[in-house]
Amino acid sequence: MRKVNLAVVGATGMVGRTFLKVLEERNLPIENFYVMASSRSAGNKLTFMGREYTVEELNEHSFDKPIDIALFSAGGTTSAKFAPVAAEHGCVVVDNSAQWRQDPKVPLIVPEVNPEDISWNSGIIANPNCSTIQAMVVLKPLDDKYKIKRVVYSTYQAVSGAGIAGWKDLENGLKGEAPKKFPHPIANNCLPHIDVFLENDYTKEEMKMIWETRKILHHPDMRVTATTVRVPVFSSHSESINIEFENPFDIKDVKELLAGAPGIVLQDDPAHDVYPLAVDAAGKDDVFVGRIRRDESVENGINLWVVADNIRKGAATNAVQIAELLIKSMN
Ligand code: A2P
Repeated sequence: MRKVNLAVVGATGMVGRTFLKVLEERNLPIENFYVMASSRSAGNKLTFMGREYTVEELNEHSFDKPIDIALFSAGGTTSAKFAPVAAEHGCVVVDNSAQWRQDPKVPLIVPEVNPEDISWNSGIIANPNCSTIQAMVVLKPLDDKYKIKRVVYSTYQAVSGAGIAGWKDLENGLKGEAPKKFPHPIANNCLPHIDVFLENDYTKEEMKMIWETRKILHHPDMRVTATTVRVPVFSSHSESINIEFENPFDIKDVKELLAGAPGIVLQDDPAHDVYPLAVDAAGKDDVFVGRIRRDESVENGINLWVVADNIRKGAATNAVQIAELLIKSMN
């Protein structure tokens, strides 16, 4: 297999560091490796595959050298400015920010769901929002078989989704310190507020789930709504998902279908208190599904509980899987 030159932009951040871990674990065929961040951490050292790499400051010349793939997780402003620079130099960017996700020229990919969309990229591929990714892995097989009519998301999202600053707010908040990242204390609290509020009074996180679900499942008119909540959990997002289908279903078949679907682990044994838990999902790459039951208030509805590590499958692992698809397409 051809080896690639690969850069990680935002390598010192929460997701960036996990990029390094996941790239190493999955043993990607890398020839030359670069780590980039802001001037604040330029010169720092990061270890990858037993070797030390010096963090470079990201600038206009960062992509003058031949780089095949760049994994970006350095915020929307950085992606807006530098992803096009990388793409102009022939590098394919897998971008973890929300900057390009709604751009019609940019595919938005969950490898278990819509890997074929990689073929029409023009240098930038967007990695979806963390809470959307784990939902897509579950919704795709269900939509293929029963045709989804409507979805209601309610999320319980970990502080690590807000980066190192979010993590620190919970850590310090538990010691009684005031929050710096969140607008209210997150310790012993639930904040129905992730990302900014928009004109329709939804948060941007809620609208991201709605927009991205439609784009990834190729259903531009799907009826979707969401309430996204930050909870005092360090790792893994949990989601209650209510789905209404066009077609009738048997709950046993739904469980079998999900148990056999790619990327999913079924944990559904209420008699023995078995259901997905944030603490169990942390550090893993799978999406865990359980509490599957009929929604008795509508004709063809179900409720389920979906948990995944938001920094791994919700960000780094999904991006690395996209890189793997890219490498395969280059060979
Ligand atoms: P730095 O460590 O130099 O600030 P997190 O979301 O976990 O806080 O991580 C954000 C990541 O994005 C960090 O690696 C951070 O680097 C990087 N970053 C932030 N702003 C820039 C920028 N203007 N140019 C390059 N990297 C940036």
